[in-house]
Amino acid sequence: MTATGADRQPWKEAVVYQIYPASFVDSNCDGWGDIPGIISKIDYIKSAGADIIWLSPVYDSPQKDMGYDISDYRSIDPRYGSLEEMDRLIAGLHLRDMKLWMDLVVNHMSDQHTWFKESRSSKDNPRRDWYFWRDPKYGVDGVRKSPNNWRSVFGGSAWTYDEWTDQYYLALFLPSQPDLNWANDDMRQAIHSDIRFWLDRGVNGFRIDSMNLMSKHEDLPDADILDPAEEYQSGEKWFASGPRMHEYLHELRTQVFDPYNAVTVGELGFTKDVESVAKYVAKSRQEVNMLFTGDIVDMDFGHSSKYSRKDFHPGMLRLLTHKWQTAMPTFDGWNSVYLDNHDSGRSLTRYGSDDPKYRAFAAKLLSIYMCTLSGTLFLLAGQEIGMANLPREMGIEHYIDVEGRNHYKRVLKERGGDESKMGDVLRELQLKARDHGRLPMQWSAQTNAGFTNSDVKPWMVVNPDHVAWNVEAQQNDPDSVLSFWKESLALRKKIADIFIYGTFEMFHESSPQDTIVAYKRGSCRTEEEALVLLNFSSQESQTTLLGNQTWNYLRGNYPSPQTRGGSLILRPWEALVYYSKEG
Ligand code: GLC
Ligand code: CA
Repeated sequence: MTATGADRQPWKEAVVYQIYPASFVDSNCDGWGDIPGIISKIDYIKSAGADIIWLSPVYDSPQKDMGYDISDYRSIDPRYGSLEEMDRLIAGLHLRDMKLWMDLVVNHMSDQHTWFKESRSSKDNPRRDWYFWRDPKYGVDGVRKSPNNWRSVFGGSAWTYDEWTDQYYLALFLPSQPDLNWANDDMRQAIHSDIRFWLDRGVNGFRIDSMNLMSKHEDLPDADILDPAEEYQSGEKWFASGPRMHEYLHELRTQVFDPYNAVTVGELGFTKDVESVAKYVAKSRQEVNMLFTGDIVDMDFGHSSKYSRKDFHPGMLRLLTHKWQTAMPTFDGWNSVYLDNHDSGRSLTRYGSDDPKYRAFAAKLLSIYMCTLSGTLFLLAGQEIGMANLPREMGIEHYIDVEGRNHYKRVLKERGGDESKMGDVLRELQLKARDHGRLPMQWSAQTNAGFTNSDVKPWMVVNPDHVAWNVEAQQNDPDSVLSFWKESLALRKKIADIFIYGTFEMFHESSPQDTIVAYKRGSCRTEEEALVLLNFSSQESQTTLLGNQTWNYLRGNYPSPQTRGGSLILRPWEALVYYSKEG
């Protein structure tokens, strides 16, 4: 059993609502969501129970990677609006005692940013060293090759050749997203000042994109060859959590964020062991407040890549939940509680069920799971109404994201262009493609789901299930997923002592079928305890976990609990919370 014993802070109790700006509300009928659209929904977001908005990038950008390729950190992409509208958004949130966090994408930027254009212009440009420029290598055959064998996250080489100066530059994502060289002091200062630009405007925090890629091994060594059939290999050993990573974060924290009391959550890829994670988030080290350890969204990623197959099993969730709920308090770190973001499929489809028979039960179960764990809670817009992935019958033509498309094209080529052999690839895309996390928000049953006018073509497809699954249909229904989420969030805050700051104990074998995830939470100050039982299955399961303790039923997603003999029967996707004063 582990006690968090953590000091209490408003940001720890906060509910953060992630908005993917292109997909929230389109106010001017150009098919793209925008800032005025967000402003028009602040009251809705507050009423759902959120305190903070995390806004995915709205900065000026050629949108090669949906804004994660920034060409000017100090201006807003006109598709989204203007600086004045950002100021209005910030003011509108502050007026309601809410906060705004922006996405901070500073591991890389757009090749259209003026810094990069200058850097590219000549080998002796003062900004040359702000990026990674290296000479080509030449094979024995005299053929020009990239400086090392690293593979880009989106496929192909991580290096792009630039004829003008006969050198390559490093781009771990798209070739149009050159990586910044954080070892350069002037570059760091320039980024710091761009961040202050937003803090001065009232932004309260940041989600730091690709955070632990910011320090690479100085020599950029070749990656180990793990897959001999492939030309390029994952260089994560050399580019993730590199030697100066902690120094850069400590500098950011003390020189940039702390003077404004800004709160940060860092995206942590590749690094998963507790000891390394602790170094980022232990309070005394003054780096970031929280992390997104990728493992929770990676549970169904296959052995060789995101899109190779691995079927989700609740045992995985049990292990990871236990791991982070118990580990964080030991080094005075703080968890983020999340299941969804814009980089994958929806948790409801992947870890729950979007079968119409079970969908509402599964969505409510996931809400109980999240609301009974320690950590700052993050919701992706739409999660509160049980939004799901695109339906299986929708083919590849509806998938427009660069990551999934690149993957599909690569495999199709390997298979001689035969579309009929792509069923397995499509299956994985239907579960994990980033498109699902980016679907337009479903406000109503109208054509285009009320995201934009019905005669407009939205930037991406709207899920046809919006006819039944939308905010309007749920808002006044006390039995809806949305109403359930509101209650779960309210209960979490009401019993913060247990659910946010309490002790945690996982039951490792809780049912013969092994589909029940069950844990106990306890107050650090009183004898009060809560027991949470979650049946991650469309099959019934039973458990004797209630034991002899006097447990009072607190809440569940069926009208009332069911017992048979001495056991508790958990129906498909049933979730139960019990409460005890005894300890
Ligand atoms: C992060 C973002 C993702 C983006 C990538 C490159 O992983 O979450 O959307 O494509 O970084 O910026
Ligand atoms: Ca618009």
